[in-house]
Formats: sequence, structure tokens, C-alpha cells
Amino acid sequence: MAMSVLDLTPAPTRPVKTRFRRIVTPIPVPQSIDLIRRLREVEPRSMAGMVPIVWHRAQGFQVRDPYGNQWIDLSSGIVMANSGHAHPRVLEAIRRQTDSPLLFTYAYPGQVRQRLLERLVKLAPPGLNKAILFSSGTEANECAITLMRRHGQRISPRKAGILSLEGNYHGRTLAAKAASGGEDRVDGIPRDQLGHFLLPAPGANGFAADLKSRGLDPLDVAGIILESIPGVTTACHPLEYMRELRDWANRHRVLIAVDEIQCGIGRTGKMFAIEHYGIAPDLITCGKGLSSSLPVSAVIGAREVMDLAPPGEMSSTFGGNPVCAAAAEANLELMEEEGLVERAAELGELLEQWLAPVARRHPGSIGEVNGRGLFYSIHLRNPETGQPWVEMADRVALECVRRGVLLFVTGRGFLKIVPPLTIDREALKEAVEVMAAVLDAELTA
Ligand SMILES: Cc1ncc(COP(=O)(O)O)c(C=O)c1O
Repeated sequence: MAMSVLDLTPAPTRPVKTRFRRIVTPIPVPQSIDLIRRLREVEPRSMAGMVPIVWHRAQGFQVRDPYGNQWIDLSSGIVMANSGHAHPRVLEAIRRQTDSPLLFTYAYPGQVRQRLLERLVKLAPPGLNKAILFSSGTEANECAITLMRRHGQRISPRKAGILSLEGNYHGRTLAAKAASGGEDRVDGIPRDQLGHFLLPAPGANGFAADLKSRGLDPLDVAGIILESIPGVTTACHPLEYMRELRDWANRHRVLIAVDEIQCGIGRTGKMFAIEHYGIAPDLITCGKGLSSSLPVSAVIGAREVMDLAPPGEMSSTFGGNPVCAAAAEANLELMEEEGLVERAAELGELLEQWLAPVARRHPGSIGEVNGRGLFYSIHLRNPETGQPWVEMADRVALECVRRGVLLFVTGRGFLKIVPPLTIDREALKEAVEVMAAVLDAELTA
């Protein structure tokens, strides 16, 4: 079997034909190799991190290639399609908008943007009454970081530092990258020279002890950005830690921005994952599932913070684009009407029940199974080294793909279960059974 996403040698598969899955070719599909090679010729190799299957149709919880294969999608693309791929109501809203015709408004007043923003702030926790739209998640985080710094600058010129947490991810533009966990240097520049400071992932010590360990003075801190539930662990932060953080931030006039680009918009069984803790953030960033389709991201916050930038200094050419905004508006509307947030919570409980026996069968190699709603991950540990079992997790993901269950290859020793919130209950069960069979076969081999 192909062991890496880079390997383009077609490997035979066993035919699969169920109500939800269909595998009828070797994978990668021999006819697809030319297309993939040509793409790799013109694209940087950073783009070759996904399993080499050609997407042709993606609808609901299923993805199809042009060669007759069909997968149950446990990835939502990349934790994106919360209401499913190409939901008919999202498609219809896009069509209506492109027929209008109005494809662009920038920051000029427009009806769709007004409706979407009103809907979004209505859904947001109390006190967060303004929002701004962008295209990518990383842009929303850049904006949140800028707003926290602007707020800090009003208090003192020293107050510009941004804290973030090890193991959290915020995007690939400079400030978002500097706020993401990882190496000490960011593009060769020491993180603290960029005014960014990483704290350890929340542990038993609590927030104050973590802060002290970094030797930071709160007078130098403008804000902290963290994922409400980190995408890598899919485990909630300790409640005590979050409460302590809120108290500390209030005392020192530090703002808290929660990144809900991955965990937000209903996925964890609450519209916003921060609701699991009962604490109020100053800013929330969203993206991905906000539209479940076209590029839309947002920053939501209190009027006093959101209004810190003067007219013309916080906007983006495509932000709030009417076609994208129409998709997001339809997405939020249908999520409410179809009760998808509650559905995520209900299916999440089943998922937990179905995964528990798998973890029990492999106590030596399945480290943790964490999650809320349809935001789950299975962490594999190499029993010999105790380290994350990267090769095994990637191998299991690839084998699941070969059996008609789409997972992404994380390259970090875990498997992620993040299907569309619309997934058919039986399809979810079937996909989990496939994963369990692959794990049983690989971990006992
Ligand atoms: C938690 C989190 N923040 C930010 C981002 C960046 O979003 P985008 O890729 O839309 O820039 C991602 C994307 O994976 C994410 O998962």
C-alpha cells in the first residue's frame, strides 16, 4: 500500500459498494496520475499534503472523484463544510446573487452584508455587537491581533505584547504565524522581537504560574489569542484555567481573542465553542464553517474595541463580498432551521460511545480520544517510544481513504473525526466501523 501522500504508485484496493461508499479503482487512480503530476509541476510542493484523490463532486457528507469512487467525508474538507458540502440552500443563495448581478461591493453599503452581520451579532455572546468580514481565517486573526494592540496602545505605549498558547494554530500570515505554536523563530525572526510570546499549553499549574514562567510583565501585554478548543487536541482547556485567565485579563486590561475558525459555528454542539466555559471573550474570530463553502471569515467584538480603527483603516478588498456573504447568510440560516448545532451535540455523544471500545482494545497505542460534538481526534502513541505515532496515524488515514472513508493525513500522529454536521447517522456509524477495523488490523499486526 502507498505509505505517503506523495507516492503516486497506484495500489490495488478491495472493491467497496455500500449505501454510502464506493471504491472501484486502485488508489491513486491510474487515470488521475497525469493530472496530479501536472499540478505538482506548477504548484509549490507545500500543496501536496493531502491524499492524492481528485475532487470532482462534493455534496452533503460525500465526496466523489471522476472515476466512480465515493467517500464518506469525515474531514469536512478541512473542517470547513459544517452544513455539508454544497448544501442546496447555500447553492441557491449563491445562484441568486450571481444572477442579480452584483459580485462586488468592497466597503460600500450593501444589503447582503448588512443582513449577514446582523444575523452574526445576534448569534454571538452578549456584548459582542459589531463584526467585520474578511476572506480567510488568518486575516480575521491578524485583525483581532491588531485590535488588541490598538486597545493596548490607548493604555500605554508599552502595552503591545501578544500572548498565545503552545499547540494552538492561527494561520499563515505573519502575526497569525507568530501567535501559532511551534519553533522559537518565525521566518528566522525571534518571536519576541515580533512582540509575540508563547505560553505552555494549559497544564496543572494554572495560568498565573505559566505566565510567571515566561517572566512577562502584564504592563507589556495587550492581548492573548487562543483557540477555544484547539484543533490539534480537540480537548477543552481546563475550566479553572479559563476562569483564571478571564480574571487576570480584567485586572490588567488585557483583551482575550478566541479563535473559533475551526471549532466554531456549531461544530462542538454550541454555536460558539467558548460557550462551553461560560466566560466572555472580547473578540471571536470565525471562518471555515461560517459559510461552509466560499471564503468568508469574521471578527466579532464589542463596539468599543471594534471601533478602534478609523474609517478606511480596517477593511479588505474582498471582505464581505456579496456572493460569499450570501453563502454565509444561507448557511447560518439553515443551520438554525435544521437544528444542526443540537445535531452535532447528539451525534457527538454517539461518536464517543462508538469510539470508546476501540480505544479500550488498544490501550498501549491509542493515547487519547478527545472531543465535543463532531470535533474529535484519536491520538496514537508509539508503544516503544511513547511519542506521537506519526507513521501509524498517516498509514491508518490512507488505508481508510482506500476503503472509502475520507480523513486527512495530519502528519502529527493523530486522526481527526470532523464530519459535516448533516452527516447521516448510519453513514457516521459505518465510517467509524471502517476506522475501527483499520485500527484493529494495523495496531495488532
Ligand atoms: C484554528 C485555526 N485558525 C486559523 C486558521 C487559518 O484559516 P485560513 O486557512 O482560512 O487562513 C485555521 C485553518 O486551518 C485554523 O484551523
